[in-house]
Order: sequence, then C-alpha cells, then structure tokens
Amino acid sequence: MSNDRVLRVGLLGAGHVGAEVFRLMIANQKDLAARSGVGLEITRVAVRELTSDRPGIDRALLTDDADSVVTDPNIDLIIEVMGGIEPARSLILKAMENGKAVVTANKALLAKHGAELFHASDLADVDFYYEAAVAGAIPILRPLAESLVGDHVERVMGIINGTTNYILTRMHEAGASFEDALAEAQTLGYAEADPTADVDGFDAAAKAAILAGLAFHTQVIDEDVYREGIREITADDVSVAKAMGFVIKLLAIAEANEIHGSVEETISVRVHPTMIPVTHPLAAVRESFNAVFVKCQSAGELMFYGRGAGGTPTASAILGDLVAVARNRNEGSLGPTETDYADLDIAPLGVSRTRYLIRMDVADVPGVLASVASTVAKNEVSIMTVRQEGRGADAELVVLTHVAREDALANTVKDLRSLDIVKKVVSVIRVEGVV
Ligand code: HSE
Repeated sequence: MSNDRVLRVGLLGAGHVGAEVFRLMIANQKDLAARSGVGLEITRVAVRELTSDRPGIDRALLTDDADSVVTDPNIDLIIEVMGGIEPARSLILKAMENGKAVVTANKALLAKHGAELFHASDLADVDFYYEAAVAGAIPILRPLAESLVGDHVERVMGIINGTTNYILTRMHEAGASFEDALAEAQTLGYAEADPTADVDGFDAAAKAAILAGLAFHTQVIDEDVYREGIREITADDVSVAKAMGFVIKLLAIAEANEIHGSVEETISVRVHPTMIPVTHPLAAVRESFNAVFVKCQSAGELMFYGRGAGGTPTASAILGDLVAVARNRNEGSLGPTETDYADLDIAPLGVSRTRYLIRMDVADVPGVLASVASTVAKNEVSIMTVRQEGRGADAELVVLTHVAREDALANTVKDLRSLDIVKKVVSVIRVEGVV
C-alpha cells in the first residue's frame, strides 16, 4: 500500500461520469482531503483510446492499458466508470486481488455478477462501494444497507429510469405520442440512439435487482426481475389514466409477498408501466428525476428524490463512496459487507398482488356489463370501478379491479378476450398506490 497520508486513485473510464469525477476531485481537493483525513490523488486514468481530446485531464495520467492500473502497487483504490460487463468485471476482480478498494457505478455488472464481486471483496478484505449504480446522486443504497438495516423493509417502489420518466411526463403533460416524446428525449440527450436499455426496462430491471437484494438480504439478479417497458403505452392510455386521476410511470417494485394476510417468505421484483393516483408522492416526480419510495415495518413510508443520472450528480455519489473508503482506511476498518443471509425465493409474477385497469372495445348491446362482470367474478377478481363511453354501435369499457393475484388478473383478461361481445382488449395496465 502507498503512503498512508495519501489515497491514490486509479480511474477506469473518462467519459461523462469519469471526467466529472476527475474535475470535482481537483476542484474540491481541499474539502475532500479534510473530510477524508487523507489527501486524495488521481494517479492514473485508463481510457479506451488515447487520441480523444479530454479537457482538464493531464495527458501524462492517461493510459490505454487498464490492466496496468489495477495491478499498479502505488494505487489504493479503483473507481470503475467504464460501464458494461467486460472488461469491467475482470478488471474489478483483478483490482481486488491486488488489494485495492473498488468504487463503481456499474449497475449492469452488479445485477449480473454482484455475488462474485462481493465474494471477491470479502476474500481480499477490501471495500466495495456502489452507491452511484442505482438512482445516480440519490443516497438510497446506503440508507437501505445502513440506516434502515434495523428495520424490516416491506416494499420498495421507485422511478429509477430518468429517460422513461421524461417520456411519460411529456406524454402526460403535453399529450405527446410515445414516438414524439422519445424523439424529444433523444434530442435532449436523455435517450440513446438505440433506446432499448431504457424504454424496454433493462436499465430499471438491473437497478431493481440491486435494490431488492439490499432491501431483502437476498441475492437477486437482473434475470429474476419481471420486466415490461413503455413502448406499448399510447397517448390514449395516458389520456384515460389522466381522466381517472392517475399518472402512468415506469415503476420498479420489490416486495415481500403476502398470502392470506400473512407475509410469505418470498419476494417479487417487477418493472412495468404502472398507473398511480396523482396524489401519490411518486406522481409528483417529473421529467428525468428519479425517486424511491420505501415502506418499512417501523419507519413507515420514506421517499428519496433527486437526479438519477448525469455526469455531475453521479460523480457526487462516487465521491461520497470515495470519502467513505478513505475514512475506513484511516480507521483500519471496512464498510458493511453484503448480507444475503435471508436467501428468500423469488416468486413467479403470478403470485404478485396488484390491480389491473382493462380497456376494452365492446359491442354496445344489452347485457355487455353483466357478461363482463360475470367473467371477472368467475376468476375471483372484484371490480372497483367501471367506465363506459358510447361510440356509435360500439363502446369503450374501462374496468378497474380491486387488488388480486396477478395470475387471476391475467386469466381474467384471457377470458375477456374470448367473449364475443369484447371486440378488442385495447390495453391492460397495472395500478398501484390506490388506498
Ligand atoms: N439511462 C439511465 C436513465 C441512466 O435514463 O435513468 C443510467 O442508468
């Protein structure tokens, strides 16, 4: 290990986030050193190619040999902000084997290989921090891992993808179509040219896996998360939701399952478009902001709100982790390790309890309501409200159910589709937060 009075940092990646980490470490050097109890110094910066212009970063620090950074005996800590699975995974493992603490913002990697990385950091006796991996600047992982660790989390429900929240906000507030709102998000630099990771829910599912793992002390990977994106949401869906006092959000939900009133030892983790009442705290989260709503047995309801992406906000979380590691090192201690002692089973989606809003085109003839109601009742689902609007010979029927098991609700929709009087099931959207 290098001189104890300085903590030497190797930075892997100098893109949006890496460049901001670098800039802020220089700009706030004195404060960061005072808070850390040691000087902090970026010693090497590994980049993919050396030719790009990187204003503010001393060229002498740059290398395209990341391996030499994670094995450099003069480096104490690696900040990984290159993203992706490989070579990030191998580099982090090698850094740990070489006795270096690691701070990362890599949600995709954690959601696939978290267990391997936690195990490696335990074996090597080094710190492994990743606050920036979920919801950018918002402190949510440390509150779950530390502040709330004495409580019992019942549910985590969050808006953890800023791009989709921006798109849905534009659809709700300006009546935009999905395509137009996506194009706007791309122009503003929120959505990528290939928006798949955001709009199809992959980014949110990776973050949901990390949140669920911490909240329920269980190993959860991205593939455990049920995932539906927002591509199918239409301007009509949004306008019907609005007329009924709801807003549509892409929510990540991780919860302990309840069977007949008692909490079962399984959890569900899902990401899908969700209608929530406009009065719900998450409904006020607009544009590209993120928020995570946590319900605990003793603390009750809490909400964490802020910027979920962007170079500077993400760098804030990374620098917080950096100071935490420096303080641990001064004390000769390590931060909290991952706990997956509970080892709960992840239930199939059918076990989750939710409500459905079902929009149908139906023939406007006597007996339609009765036949829809009896089909719903046959599946032991109960109706909360029905809205019918005539359209000549047809009508649009909108049914909001009470809470029921997802499998019963899905069977209800299947049975409704098979009725002659139902011309089309136009859309099915889950509804949460109704009290
Ligand atoms: N693309 C993500 C978002 C940020 O829109 O929230 C990185 O996870």
